[in-house]
Amino acid sequence: MARSGRSTSFLIGSTCWSVVTGLICLALADSVRVPERSPTILAENTIQAVERLFNQVLYATIEDARQRLPGLPANESIDRQYFEELDLVAGNEDYYSTAFYIFAWINSDLMYHNTPNKLLIEVLPGEKIAIRRFFAKVKPHLTKYLRLSRQDKSELVSNMTQLATETNDSLITTFLEFPQNLKSQLPELQLMDYTKLAQALVQGVARGIWMKAVNT
Ligand SMILES: *[C@@H]1O[C@H](CO)[C@@H](O)[C@H](O)[C@H]1NC(C)=O
Ligand SMILES: *[C@@H]1O[C@H](CO)[C@@H](O)[C@H](O)[C@H]1NC(C)=O
Ligand SMILES: *[C@@H]1O[C@H](CO)[C@@H](O)[C@H](O)[C@H]1NC(C)=O
Repeated sequence: MARSGRSTSFLIGSTCWSVVTGLICLALADSVRVPERSPTILAENTIQAVERLFNQVLYATIEDARQRLPGLPANESIDRQYFEELDLVAGNEDYYSTAFYIFAWINSDLMYHNTPNKLLIEVLPGEKIAIRRFFAKVKPHLTKYLRLSRQDKSELVSNMTQLATETNDSLITTFLEFPQNLKSQLPELQLMDYTKLAQALVQGVARGIWMKAVNT
């Protein structure tokens, strides 16, 4: 099972050229699953803390983007309907996998090295601050987890330190890859499935406005 290296190819591989296919590539990479095991209470608590912090970034960026929509021309933004659909989603994993998808979409110009639209230019500074804060806040949780579970992942921890001050746009991709990267380093810390909506698109299960996304 070749786990290393797969996360870096997500969203930027030559065949992964749109948000949908990019997340689909991530979803497919994710299909190499680690065997199911019941997490310890320690792992469970860590997962919950990390998810809460990760979700805060998704939520903050999406609300920021939503509030900016009325001031932007349609071609410099994304369709308001995606936010309205998000509001109808019930269930934590469904909600945040949808938010993750919209988040990736908002940031897609960065990942494909296109000229960013106005929406992205406006949300990017706040987004980067939120992501740096995320890495700063996640680090003590992971440090504590590693200490109590007697594991050593010094590169993971030193990366957190560096990411807490990172200003490069690559910060966005690193954030999107974080759940995958964490799982590859510490398989027992498997976060909720943020690629759930992308996978539903692959399988033709997601419908309505989401199908429109596949065709754009
Ligand atoms: C949006 O439309 C305006 C006016 O047609 C154009 O100048 C601008 O480049 C377009 N933006 C994008 C991101 O396509
Ligand atoms: C740490 O960051 C480097 C540089 O971005 C990356 O190549 C490496 O895979 C990361 N390691 C971990 C454990 O996240
Ligand atoms: C920023 O990240 C990109 C990859 O996303 C890389 O090519 C570039 O060299 C980085 N710039 C700096 C200043 O680290």
